[in-house]
Amino acid sequence: MQLHQSSWPEIEGYLKRSNGIIVPIGSTEQHGPNGLLGTDAICPEVIAKQAGDDSGILIGPTFNVGSAQHHLGFSGTITLRPSTMIAAMYDWASSLIRHGFERIYWFNGHGGNIAPINSAFAEIYSEYSFQRAGSNRRPVKLFLRNWWELPGVGDLCREIFPVGEGSHATASEVSVTYYAYPDAVKNVEMTPKIAPTGSIRDADDYRRQFPDGRIGSDPSQATPEKGERIVKAAKKALVRDFEAFMQAS
Ligand code: NI
Repeated sequence: MQLHQSSWPEIEGYLKRSNGIIVPIGSTEQHGPNGLLGTDAICPEVIAKQAGDDSGILIGPTFNVGSAQHHLGFSGTITLRPSTMIAAMYDWASSLIRHGFERIYWFNGHGGNIAPINSAFAEIYSEYSFQRAGSNRRPVKLFLRNWWELPGVGDLCREIFPVGEGSHATASEVSVTYYAYPDAVKNVEMTPKIAPTGSIRDADDYRRQFPDGRIGSDPSQATPEKGERIVKAAKKALVRDFEAFMQAS
């Protein structure tokens, strides 16, 4: 079930049986010579959509521009500064909380989002902490899961790509997007075959160190079929992980 394809009475009905929602969150940033700019948003979105279709869990709209200042040296990247992202997440969460959602599971596709997501959680929790003792407002519970860290998923990615998985523009994430959008597959020769690795600072530093945008990866191995294997495993793991989150105290 997807929020943006539902009517308000359908959401009101959903809230009578559940107060939990999954919100995919990603980024719009370069993903090397053959990866889609939307990779980090598409991956959690496609996995969450299938999980929602299978289980009836409500999937929110994808928060699809994140914290990607270090990718701005490459055309097409769009970023929020961390403070803007925290403020936007606060407003998304506050809107959902107003309707009665009490458990919000943020399903993330971008490593650069982890710090601002955790800061947004602290901002939201602060509002409850500052309330007077004895307030009867029901507490909200927030959760962050990176899709590649769902139980079993990282192991599967490493099994499919024992060499050249890398850490940015990975063979796995490009495969997932090719499965989602097979018409967008791009055949590009990688030079060098496997990209270098290292740490990054700002946009100019990134472009200097990693001129084609990849870090440690050979995404020319990506195929829609490999992406399908990853999505099928990840959607099942996501349903289990969300249900555990809903049952936890
Ligand atoms: Ni990525």
